[in-house]
This record gives sequence, structure tokens and C-alpha cells, in this order.
Amino acid sequence: MRRGVLGLLAAGAVVLLPAPAGAAGRCGAHPWCDTSLSPDARAGMLLQALSPSEKIGLLAGDDLTGVCACYPGSHTGVEDGVARLDVPRVLFSDGPVGPRQGQTTALPIPMALAATFDRRLAVAHGAIAGDEARHKGNDVVFGPTVNIMRTPLGGRTYEAYGEDPFLDAQMAVGWIRGLQAQGVIADVKHYAANNQEGVSPLADISRPGQPIGPPATDGNRMLVDEQIDERTLREIYLPHFEAAIRQAHAGTVMCAYNKVNGSYACENDHLIHQILEKEWGFDGMVLADYGAAHDAGASLRGGLDFEPWPGLAYGPLQVRLALTTGQATDAQVDEHVRRYLRTLFAFGVFDRAAYADDDAKIDKAAHARAAQGIEESAITLLENRRHALPLGAPRTIAVIGEPATQFVTGGGSGNVKPFAFHDPLTAIRARAGTGSAVLYDDGSDPARAAATARSAGVAVVFAADYDSEGADRACLTLECPKVHGYQDGLIDRVASAQPNTVVVLETGGPVLTPWRDKVAALVEAWYPGQEGGPAIARVLFGDTDPGGRLPATFPRSEADLPTAGDPEAYPGVGEKVTYKEGLLVGYRFYDAKAKSPAYPFGFGRSYTRFGFSRLTLRRRGVTVRAALTVRNRGRRAGWAVPQLYVAMPAGAGEPPRQLKAFAKLRLGRGEARRVHFTLGRRAFAHWDGGWQVAPGCYTVLAGSNSRALPLHRRVALGGGACR
Ligand code: BGC
Repeated sequence: MRRGVLGLLAAGAVVLLPAPAGAAGRCGAHPWCDTSLSPDARAGMLLQALSPSEKIGLLAGDDLTGVCACYPGSHTGVEDGVARLDVPRVLFSDGPVGPRQGQTTALPIPMALAATFDRRLAVAHGAIAGDEARHKGNDVVFGPTVNIMRTPLGGRTYEAYGEDPFLDAQMAVGWIRGLQAQGVIADVKHYAANNQEGVSPLADISRPGQPIGPPATDGNRMLVDEQIDERTLREIYLPHFEAAIRQAHAGTVMCAYNKVNGSYACENDHLIHQILEKEWGFDGMVLADYGAAHDAGASLRGGLDFEPWPGLAYGPLQVRLALTTGQATDAQVDEHVRRYLRTLFAFGVFDRAAYADDDAKIDKAAHARAAQGIEESAITLLENRRHALPLGAPRTIAVIGEPATQFVTGGGSGNVKPFAFHDPLTAIRARAGTGSAVLYDDGSDPARAAATARSAGVAVVFAADYDSEGADRACLTLECPKVHGYQDGLIDRVASAQPNTVVVLETGGPVLTPWRDKVAALVEAWYPGQEGGPAIARVLFGDTDPGGRLPATFPRSEADLPTAGDPEAYPGVGEKVTYKEGLLVGYRFYDAKAKSPAYPFGFGRSYTRFGFSRLTLRRRGVTVRAALTVRNRGRRAGWAVPQLYVAMPAGAGEPPRQLKAFAKLRLGRGEARRVHFTLGRRAFAHWDGGWQVAPGCYTVLAGSNSRALPLHRRVALGGGACR
């Protein structure tokens, strides 16, 4: 097992700190405790020693209360093990934003992490979540959430990494590596195509702090059958799971609530046995989302190894019934228990002491610094007219909107309670110093807020939305749900009164920005985590360059969404959702239909200017080495994010262009750097019963975002030619 490092962020770099040495094991003196044996051999020996009822007992969790996280120290799930044979108790916790167990370092949300386009920060984010989960006594973390944002209306948009499978995979791999290096086991979720929560008539009254969105009546995640053709599944909805298994070696996979092509994800032979286990070689365990296991027989046959909660489908009664009625076999039970045990052996769970639940051991100050650094690198500058930003030294700054004083985040299993919270208003006041007066208006009365804005040299309006597990958003404006009042109207009013208006959004994903042409600057800060205030203040005042780029397209209107106007496509009819847009998800759709988004995928401004030049390609077989030069042509240091997209030959039948490589680099004033990329076979392949490279001419395009790709070079592959 790899462990012993804590990836932390310091001065823009990941620093590796030694973790404490492992304590004595708890395996006992059994033959399977010989650590020179393979995890497979050890699991096989222990399996033979277990009685039939002990085996059945290991198929399901043993605690019903943890899921609510309603008492201090409560884990999200518990499996008690088998005391007679020293099979250890295993503790599980959510999730992708850090442990949902008491207080935690509230990191910027995964969507913000994706906006950093920075693999090192993905490692750091995962390392912090892993370190804190371990210090709260957990063995397994239910994260990362990697489901693709099929529609920005999805309630869990904030929990995952946006609309592109390549960016998603890169973030997931980094996060899992960072987390598992802490000695806890990742659980990549939700396998597969859990892309909607469903529509609820009550969604409009959901509130932050409410643990989970109101239950959906239409297209409910627990019931929907996602109809997806194989090619779309392979190219859009699975690559990040594949990378999580093959590259990052995630120890566990959580099967989803929904059905995929007629069969529940946790009973889905095609997804679990054929793809995950046979094709990708996954030798860890598949565990069920909470309530996602329905039928003992079908799950035992279909590939589910463990049901952490509520332990009903895999309860002793149901499993025995499935065995006696011939719906499943003893061999199938053995195989699932073997996988459960093998995973614990592979990750050293038997060979160390139980982790203590003692979060006093968490280096909260270091984690807070890292959280702030990640957020600074995630903040995405969308508009900046007349050099409105960075703020100079205005005599009076009007800060408007209650999100300036609040901890803003999403609901459900990605909801965490911060150790501390540093709000934007206080941070702006501190940074502005005594030279500037900072006025504050909560925005509840737009006329009053406009008057305050008019009296100042600059207005900074904070606006937020609320994403939650359990229910999709009823619409894409800032008013859905009406958590923070009528914010679009407020921004409009303030911008009319004060031409120098800066809008700071704290949203979980794309929202509509109908006022974007009226404001001087627009900053997307995402749900920024507990150190959001200082990070936002540093970006506003230019102490650091905004490092973020959009991991998802911001549409001009809801009518432009790939699934708009067709209930069969979303949210589904009769609990059936048909993925009619196929491969055309996110920017692939906008590009194919020649639609202009409000802000394209990959977009984000800097306080400096970058030039991209000298794209070169060198082919060897089906691998292409690309290089380009990035030059900082402006007057200050900044973050550049060169992006490479591949356009396949028409014969491949692919979307116009797709992200296949990117880098994140900080360049000083006047500095230039040559950046190298390797595009492997998969970058040029499409799914056609297997990964195929169509013969023809491929174009590699490079630039600063999906709609600004000034450089291109062609390369012939698959026996084709470029004419
Ligand atoms: C969510 C999972 C989560 C589980 C436990 C479910 O509702 O879908 O992501 O890990 O609850 O909290």
C-alpha cells in the first residue's frame, strides 16, 4: 500500500510531508495474517475459515443511524466485521468535499477544483480529504463524485467535475491518488450515469442547511432508467471511471441509484461484470449507494459486493431466501465476500491499528491555507471591462448581497460543516485597509442597495445559488431556488446605478447571466470553501491572478441546453430518460450546433495576456507528441492554461473537437515557456465495439479555451492521409 505522504499546498506547490508510521496490526495470529502472501491468497484463506452466516453478515453494513450524520462522531456507514476471526470493523464517511462527520476543512467544491485545471491541486484536495477522514477514524471515503454534468440543472453539479470526460478523469485520478496516499480507500461514485436527481415541485423552497433537496416526482434518481447507447456510454459517461480504476487504482466503486438500459446499476451485469471487472480488471469491491440495492438475488448475480446501508437487500433474511429459492448461489456469496476481504487486505486494513477518531490531530492551519490556495486557483474571471479589476484603491467600496457574509455551499452528502469560516466582507475590509471605506448592504432592498452603490467608487455584488442532492434545480437563474432573494433584479438595479459594478458569483455550476453586458466585471468563485473570503479578496485586489477556467459551458438561455424542450431527454417520461443528444454533451453540443454560449468551456480571463505560438507535432505510431510556446505578453505574472483539442476525420462521426490535453503554468512578466504534451492512442480513438482509430486526417488545435484555438496542425493516423 502506498501511503506516508500528505500533499499540501504551499507557495503554489504540493509539499510532501511524512505521515505517522503505521501502528501494530489487528489481524491476530491467523494464517492469513502473513503479510508476505498476496491479498488474493489471504482473502482466500480467510474465506475458508468463515462460517456461512459470518460470510452473509459481511455483505451488509451494521449501523442504521450514521447516514444522518446527526450526532458528533457519527460515521456515514459501519461494518462490524467478525470478532471471532479478527475481521476488523470498517468505517465509512462521505464524501467529495471532505468528511461529513462533525466539522471539517470545508474545501472549495469539486467544481471549483475542476476549474483550477491543475492536477497537483486535485492531489492536494484529495490528500486533505483523506487525511481528515483518517483522523476521524474512517477507512473508506465515499468520493470522488465523477458523474458528468449532462445538464447544469442537475442538483449535484457542484459535487463533480463538470461536462468533459477528460478533465473529469484527470481530476478524479489526482484526487484518488492524494486520498489513498493517506491510507484510506477511495470510493468512486456513482457508477454509472447518475446524472440527475429529478424534478420536484417543492424544489423552489429548498434551503441551504436543509440536509437534502426535496424528493423528486419526475425523473427521480431512484427510479429512472437511463437509455444510453453503448458508444455514448463509453465515450462520455465511463472514461473517468475507467481512469479512476486503471490509473488511480481506486479501491471501491459505488453503484448508482438509477437503472442503465433497463437494469439497476447495482444489478447490472454489463456495467459491473463485463466492463468494470473483465475489461478494466477491477479487483476491489462494488458497494451500493444508500438504498440503491433492491433485490438480493439480482444483486448477488449482477455483481454487488457490499451494501453499506441500510443493509436490507443484503440482510441475512433476503440473502438466505435468494439462496434457498435458487436465485443466487453460495459461490456468488463467496465471490462477493472474497472481494470485500481482498480489498481490505490490499489496503492494509488488517495490518494496522484502527484509526483513532481524534480530529485534534488535523493540521487545520495548513489545510486552511491549502483550501485558500485551491480557491485562488479556481476563481474564474469572466468579464473585465475598462480594467475594472484588479481594484485599485477606491475611496469607497460598496459590498452588496448577503452571500458576502455567509458560508455558501450545496446540500446532501457533499455538504460539510467548516472548522472556521472567513467571509468575503471581512476579508475585503481587511485588505482595503484604512485608505478605503467599505460600505455593506445586504441587498434585500434593491433601491437602497442601488443608492449605496451610487455613493461609492465601485460596487461589488455577491450573488449565490443553491445546488442540492435530492432535487434538480427548477431553472437556471439565480432565483432557483429563491434562497438569496431576487438577485438578477438586484444586479441589474445596482449596475444601472453604478457603471463600475463587479459581480462575484458563488454558484455550484453554470447559471444564467442576463445582466452580463451591463456589469464591469464578473467573477465566478464557485462555492469557495471556508477560506473563500480571503481568496476572493486577493483576486479582487490583484494580489494573485485569477487561475480558473470554466469546466462547463455557461449557456445564454435555458432553451440552448442540449436537452431543452424534450421531456423524453430530460427529465424523462414514465421514468425513462433517453440520451438523445448522444455524444453532444456540453461544449460538444454548442460546437456541433454552432450555438454561441455566454461563456465557453475552458474560458477564463487573466489580469495579464498570453500568446500561444509554434505548435509542433511529432508522430510515432499512434502516439503524438505536441509542443507549443506560451508567452506572457502582459505586465504582470499570471496563470496560463493552454488546452489541446482533437478534431477527428469526418469518418469517425465525432463531435467537432474534444479536449485531450491541458497544462497549468504560472508565467512571470515577459516569460515564455515551451509546453510538451503526449497524446496517446486513446486521444484519437472512438468507440465502435472497441477503441478504434479511424483512418484519416486528425487536427490538433491549441489555444486558451474551446472557442479560442488559434493554432492547428494536422496528422494522418490509422493508415489515412492528410491532403
Ligand atoms: C448519496 C451518496 C452518499 C450516500 C451516503 C446517498 O444519498 O447518493 O453519494 O455517499 O448517500 O451519504
